Amino acid sequence: MKALVTGGAGFIGSHIAKKLVDNNIEVHIIDNLSTGNLENIPFIPKSNIHIKDITDLEYIESLFQKFEYTYVIHLAAMVSVVETIEKPVQSNEVNIDASLNLLNCIKEYNPNIQKVIFASSAAVYGKLDGLPKSVDSPINPLSPYAIQKYASEQYTKMYNDLYNIPTISLRFFNIYGPRQNPKSDYSGVLSIINQKFIENQKFTFFGDGEQTRDFVYINDLVQAFWLVLNNDNVHGEVFNIGTGKQTTLNEVFDVFQENYNYTIPYEYKEERQGDIKYSYADVTKLQKIGYSPQYTIKEGIREYLKYNESTLDEK
Ligand code: NAD
Ligand code: UD1
Repeated sequence: MKALVTGGAGFIGSHIAKKLVDNNIEVHIIDNLSTGNLENIPFIPKSNIHIKDITDLEYIESLFQKFEYTYVIHLAAMVSVVETIEKPVQSNEVNIDASLNLLNCIKEYNPNIQKVIFASSAAVYGKLDGLPKSVDSPINPLSPYAIQKYASEQYTKMYNDLYNIPTISLRFFNIYGPRQNPKSDYSGVLSIINQKFIENQKFTFFGDGEQTRDFVYINDLVQAFWLVLNNDNVHGEVFNIGTGKQTTLNEVFDVFQENYNYTIPYEYKEERQGDIKYSYADVTKLQKIGYSPQYTIKEGIREYLKYNESTLDEK
């Protein structure tokens, strides 16, 4: 069995690739290394890593002409909301056109594929009054990023409706864990807090720290991924990937303090423009197919820090 993972050198993609390899599935990766890193995927042979842009339509087509894939997992994207606002046209090419091309190549060359999974985002909900956010809630995309994720998600569904391609979209909430890059201002906040603790630098809370998020440890995402990959009754569906619990940023900071056993300087500044105050996922649909998140925020952060220690030991 062969899988193609786009964006496989990134944070989530590298964990998904590892899960597939551990289950004896040959993994091919396409990644332009814009935010990903080859160090994330030492377990993939160089010959199966295609350092290419997902918008290189001819190259993508040539891959499908050459290989028959059992699974395609599509994660490559312009992931920064701010960058999609600055580059609406270019981000459309990466986040919509390339997804559509991929679906079309599958239809043309690989119609017997067993699963196509697309990485969508909780960003599609935008600001909603009601909580938790359910896949039946209205959508309200507030950025090119959110519009593009929604569009690709709907194309993904349409290829199931029209052509019977077994597709699924997953709306990720706030995923965290090893290999998440903390370097940008818009990196996941947990990776930023962790980095500040490591470097003993000041952390800035935007707002009062009472905003909540549904923080999902990467192993729980991998569990959900594996469940949908192996379920043939969910084609054409959309799932939230969350834990069903919300945690404030102040609580998260406290858990880091407890684990590090020291504190770092911190300050409260004005809220980020357009920031969402409260967010968490309704995961009942996922629970119905056997999902049961294993990591509370405390357990997830502890696991995350254990991984940090083990990689520091290796250096
Ligand atoms: P990441 O930046 O670590 O991974 C994205 C990968 O895609 C990187 O390896 C990058 O080099 C690659 N890439 C980007 N543009 C590309 C292009 N044009 N051609 C080829 N490769 C390209 O981010 P991640 O957190 O692992 O995100 C994976 C997916 O999940 C993305 O689609 C993202 O939008 C989505 N998502 C993530 C979260 C989260 O909490 N991390 C939340 C919602 C949605
Ligand atoms: C996440 C996505 C974003 C998407 C949004 C929509 C990530 C990294 N971002 O943003 O792409 O548009 O969901 O739902 O997954 N914060 C601080 N200090 C910091 C950094 C962040 O206080 O240094 C705060 C933010 O203002 C926010 C919270 O922490 O209130 C979480 O921030 P972040 O990790 O960027 O995630 P989202 O805002 O949920």
